[in-house]
Amino acid sequence: MIYLNGDFMPIEEARIPVLDRGFIFGDGVYEVIPVYSRKPFRLAEHLHRLQHSLDGIRLSNPHSNKEWSHLLERIIAGNESDDQSLYLHVTRGVAKRDHAFPKGVMPTVFIMSNPLLAPPAEWLATGVAAITASDNRWLRCDIKAISLLPNVLLRQMAVDAGAIETVLLREGFMTEGAASNIFVIKDGILLAPPKNHLMLPGITYDVVLELASANEIPHEVREVSEYEVRTAQEILLTSSTKEIMPITRLDGKSVGDGRPGAMFTLLHQLYQNYKS
Ligand code: PDD
Repeated sequence: MIYLNGDFMPIEEARIPVLDRGFIFGDGVYEVIPVYSRKPFRLAEHLHRLQHSLDGIRLSNPHSNKEWSHLLERIIAGNESDDQSLYLHVTRGVAKRDHAFPKGVMPTVFIMSNPLLAPPAEWLATGVAAITASDNRWLRCDIKAISLLPNVLLRQMAVDAGAIETVLLREGFMTEGAASNIFVIKDGILLAPPKNHLMLPGITYDVVLELASANEIPHEVREVSEYEVRTAQEILLTSSTKEIMPITRLDGKSVGDGRPGAMFTLLHQLYQNYKS
């Protein structure tokens, strides 16, 4: 069951007019919220980021947090899995094609749910491969915009190379992944790039840094250079759907000793305890 503009229905019945500005311009924002045992994970933080994205595109929030919570509760109840991945999407609505904002138009609100599958055990046991590429996105990557063409192309580069993610580099520094945040471990210290307009402020990223603080894991939030990425002991990828994963090959070369490291094992365990 999905939600579209006030109604709940099977996804097959959902229809969007072709003049929706999401379809025409990619003019909208979204969130992906994990649900564990039918409870949304870090809901307040996701709704806060949604507000930031809406503010970033100057679209007023169609719902209060209480209304969002109720809508999400109904979607969770209307779907089978206990663990779900909620996708929530707001566009500027339907209007005659013109780049400038239309007046008096209702936003389009869409929510769907997919089963949230744990990452394959093999990926956690051996790690995954990633490639690097130049970050050619715009300068408002802090907005979770539905216009994802650069991210789509960058992640497909990884798939074409038999890898699962593309680590993005901008002017000699790492920003994030095409659909994830990236941490680097150097000299036993967990390094995280600072949140700014060049990356999405990940909810999982925040959890990892909170867990690091709470457990006295040495960590620094600062610019991470391409050199540090290429000479890292470990590289970790985080996202709501992938949680924490070890990147053990980068551009065809082993990261550290080529196996998931101690920092991954520790943070992954802490994350599993935290989410349950
Ligand atoms: N993507 N950076 C980018 C560009 C992302 O697309 C994502 C997540 C993240 C991680 O953020 P979070 O920890 O809040 O999921 C970072 C989602 C999962 C997606 O587009 O499907």
